[in-house]
Amino acid sequence: MRGWAVALASWALVAGAAASAAPGEVPRIESRNGRHALMVDGAPFLMLGVQANNSSNYPAMLPQVWPVVERLHANTLEIPVAWEQIEPVEGQFDFSYLDALLPQARERGVKLVLLWFGTWKNTSPGYVPAWVKRDNARFPRMRTKDGKTHYALSPHAPATLAADRKAFVALMRYLKDKDTDNSVIMVQPENEVGVYQQGRDYSPEANRLFAGPVPSKLGKKGTWEQAYGVGAEAAFNAWYTARYIDAIAAAGKAIKPVPMYVNAAVGDPFAAPGKSGGASGGPDWQVIDVWKAAAPHIDAVAPDLYGRDGKNYLKFLDHYARRDNALLVPETGNAMDFARFLWPTLGRGGIGWAPFGMDDTGYSNHPLGAVTLDAATLDAFARPYALLKPMARGWAKLAYAHPGWGTAKGAPDAEQSRTMGRWQLSAKYGEWQFGSMDSPWLKAAPPPHAAQPVGGMAVLHLAPDQFLVTGTDIRVNIDLADKSKGETAMLLKVEEGTLADDGSFVMRRVLNGDQTDYGLNFTAQPMLLRVTMGTYR
Ligand code: DGJ
Repeated sequence: MRGWAVALASWALVAGAAASAAPGEVPRIESRNGRHALMVDGAPFLMLGVQANNSSNYPAMLPQVWPVVERLHANTLEIPVAWEQIEPVEGQFDFSYLDALLPQARERGVKLVLLWFGTWKNTSPGYVPAWVKRDNARFPRMRTKDGKTHYALSPHAPATLAADRKAFVALMRYLKDKDTDNSVIMVQPENEVGVYQQGRDYSPEANRLFAGPVPSKLGKKGTWEQAYGVGAEAAFNAWYTARYIDAIAAAGKAIKPVPMYVNAAVGDPFAAPGKSGGASGGPDWQVIDVWKAAAPHIDAVAPDLYGRDGKNYLKFLDHYARRDNALLVPETGNAMDFARFLWPTLGRGGIGWAPFGMDDTGYSNHPLGAVTLDAATLDAFARPYALLKPMARGWAKLAYAHPGWGTAKGAPDAEQSRTMGRWQLSAKYGEWQFGSMDSPWLKAAPPPHAAQPVGGMAVLHLAPDQFLVTGTDIRVNIDLADKSKGETAMLLKVEEGTLADDGSFVMRRVLNGDQTDYGLNFTAQPMLLRVTMGTYR
């Protein structure tokens, strides 16, 4: 009887899993036990993204975009849709760009993330239509402290919200009608929102609200200054900006409930409260709680990461990888140094990652990114993506179910090892594959990658004694966390291979001998290992 019940239960599980893989299902972000999955066609999907340059959102530019998407083995293109482009004249919509983009993406099997450049683009109204830009009476800009006009549009402006929402809803209606196979897997309403140069709008209406009580949903008492101290203006602007964007997202989702996230122009990940320095009011790490309370229709807030410092990068990942927030890095630098940060993002359960400025239009956003997209730079991103693309679903499925971890060169020593169950994993850089620089019984100069900003790894803990490990330019060792019990750790089996869509491991070969004697060695050419540990006495 018990056997029958177990058989039935496992059949139900299998049937349930099969039933959930449903082409035609609108994408969504699902969360369970504090982990998250981007569901595409009803099953977890890992977004291996690239973002095109800001002005590549025209049909004539797409031939300079697709070759780089393909060269990099990306499965998703993030690309803008500008308000000025779809509603150049108020009330008259033009979707000819999307008429070109969507079929071209579909033909190539590439998913899309659309970036809605509306009221705020890097905080400025650069992408709103001219009829909005010109009419500051109807669409007010913020005021400075001394009453002058600031560049940014105010979030305390119902007419601007209504106009932006109307255009966004038209976009979502277009997607509902035309994107029937759901090539568009996420939409980003606005881009790097908030304001620079001042903390908030100083218009009379904004001043009145700032002097009033904080909304009860924030779970704090008193005025903004009483509740948030030096962080009051950032929290205040975050609340009203998030409410504004939530209204836009809610209206869009009522048409088609595609996952929506808002990206953050971040400041300092270690700053004291109120001193982070990112765009004030955007979803910088110190005001994530404000955004969560204010914007229930926003599925995730996501950091744009353009700093090359490993300590800072990992700290940002930790700030945004939360039980209530799926980790997504929608923009990161496209210089070679950034490629290694894919791994700690994956190790923290990241649902997606995308270097910015990946097209052939010739623009370089150095010093934030690469000076030029030469072969070495492209390879640094293409190699990991080439490994991961065929297993994007398998990895996403396992990352949704199992704890993970990851690190990269430049992270602090404390971030270079991690205890998982009874095992301790540790990372080392600058090793040849044979021998060890620590105990050089064979003397050797360090390998070239020792001096380069490369190296990182991601791991998933599949079972008490089993890990999936992947990475580049790194040596990973696994040992017992507690060595006092008379047991010695051993690699029982190290298999190299890939993952099927259902997460099952497909072995290509078993690594042994030179390939494992000095640890798990990853070169610039990444691989996926399933490592089964054991002990002997
Ligand atoms: C972040 C923005 O979100 C992007 O659109 C772009 O402006 C980059 N910064 C810098 O090039």
